[in-house]
Amino acid sequence: MLWVGVLLLVCSPWVMVSRAYDLDPDDPKSVKYVAGRVAQKLMEFYPGENPGRIPGLFDYPPYYWWEAGAVFGALVDYWYYTGDTTYNGPTTRALIHQAGPGKNYMPHNQTSAMGNDDQAFWALAAMNAAEKKFPDPPPEEPQWLALVQAVFNLQVKRLREEEATYNCGGGLRWQAIPLNGGYDYKNTISNGCFFQLGARLARYTGNDTYAEWAEKIWDWTEKIGFITPEYSIIDGGWINATSNCTTRSEIRWSYNAGVYLGGAAFMYDYTKKDIWKERIDKMLDYTFGYFFPGNNDIMVESACETLNPPSCNVDQRSFKAYLSRFLTYVRILAPWTAPRIATKIKASSIAAAKRCSRGQDQNTCGLRWYTPVDEWEGMWGVGEQLAALEVIQSNLVKESPEEFADSKTGTSIGDPSAGGDVELDLSHGLKPVTTADKGGAGTLTGLVALAMLGLSWWLMKP
Ligand SMILES: *[C@@H]1O[C@H](CO)[C@@H](O)[C@H](O)[C@H]1NC(C)=O
Ligand SMILES: *[C@@H]1O[C@H](CO)[C@@H](O)[C@H](O)[C@H]1NC(C)=O
Ligand SMILES: *[C@@H]1O[C@H](CO)[C@@H](O)[C@H](O)[C@H]1NC(C)=O
Ligand SMILES: *[C@@H]1O[C@H](CO)[C@@H](O)[C@H](O)[C@H]1NC(C)=O
Repeated sequence: MLWVGVLLLVCSPWVMVSRAYDLDPDDPKSVKYVAGRVAQKLMEFYPGENPGRIPGLFDYPPYYWWEAGAVFGALVDYWYYTGDTTYNGPTTRALIHQAGPGKNYMPHNQTSAMGNDDQAFWALAAMNAAEKKFPDPPPEEPQWLALVQAVFNLQVKRLREEEATYNCGGGLRWQAIPLNGGYDYKNTISNGCFFQLGARLARYTGNDTYAEWAEKIWDWTEKIGFITPEYSIIDGGWINATSNCTTRSEIRWSYNAGVYLGGAAFMYDYTKKDIWKERIDKMLDYTFGYFFPGNNDIMVESACETLNPPSCNVDQRSFKAYLSRFLTYVRILAPWTAPRIATKIKASSIAAAKRCSRGQDQNTCGLRWYTPVDEWEGMWGVGEQLAALEVIQSNLVKESPEEFADSKTGTSIGDPSAGGDVELDLSHGLKPVTTADKGGAGTLTGLVALAMLGLSWWLMKP
């Protein structure tokens, strides 16, 4: 259905743009207005509040579970930056429902393709809720901080297993479950999310154990070469009989740069150590060169947007959202970076806004922000809306570390031992997976077949 819709739009005369949003990034009224329009369109794609639908899920296909976690993380910031409470109800319901019965973002329905990164994107949303003092759930429901700790503890357990086997010398695998396609891949985003969660938990709770894990995973990422000598960040490497993370995908996605930059900024704020300052500066230099390639300061998903037509898949079309979000956190926590980052965010948000009055409703964002305004590649959806929303709303940030609460100023209740002994119940929710179009991991059809084999095994089980 959706794809028929895409086709119709592409082939129709409505691609002509008749009215563009003229964003003034220095005028909060202008930013709130355009952010509101973009958010409204984003939530038109969301069925989770409709009768009979499940809170927290967008339609799959094409939208994987993780991207919903990313959306609700962005909506916490939307409320924080704009004061608009319109989406607080849906956000709370989604973040609580998808925590699942284990209160650890491992709901049974999603285990067939449960990546450590997928789980972490929901945890990042919960972390955001704790730090931004998003209204706490009622006491009988899981609490934001405890949810993050549950995910973190589960992933520590998985990491320990990797360390014990010397596979690539450590590091999280992409998938959490051996039967899933992608279990033989160590992707940088899973490790980067874990790194950032560790840094944020350390800063929020003051518990140094989280920071130790964060340092450990940074060191591993660097040692294995996924952070390159010039501080670019590549997608990951395979772990199997012939590859000990030596066969790699060298693609550089903006979300990997964003998640490591964001984590490093929290580490800097927590430790105030020069080493984190140096790392931030080196990563920023690379990021500014590769993801803002023109002299116009406009953000580009260079690996896929520069092709004609762009080759970005549904996941990848949202990645600029996370680079925007995390650059903005760097701007807050590493204040010397603020002027440079602000320039890039302003220019990118003006450009993005101009491309958000596409489509028949004249309220739909396009993918590319750097091509001529009256040229539309015909792509639209949750990712395009989300990327535009995050870059636009980022203009409302205040450059003060008090933007993020901690256990002294915040209210969220934690549980240091949450999630630790709840692992997966594999007999639930095992469905065939199609991970082939997952961001940057390449084609994994063979593994999907393997997962299907696993499925039939479970089905044949008495
Ligand atoms: C899992 O699927 C069932 C059946 O569709 C649904 O009732 C339930 O809410 C889902 N759980 C989650 C966490 O999405
Ligand atoms: C794989 O790499 C890790 C770290 O680089 C090393 O400790 C381990 O021995 C290697 N394993 C094999 C089988 O080469
Ligand atoms: C290991 O993974 C790489 C990358 O997918 C693949 O080319 C290679 O054939 C795999 N080796 C084995 C033994 O599965
Ligand atoms: C710090 O975090 C670790 C890891 O979750 C936990 O085992 C420990 O109890 C925590 N310490 C305190 C004082 O809360």
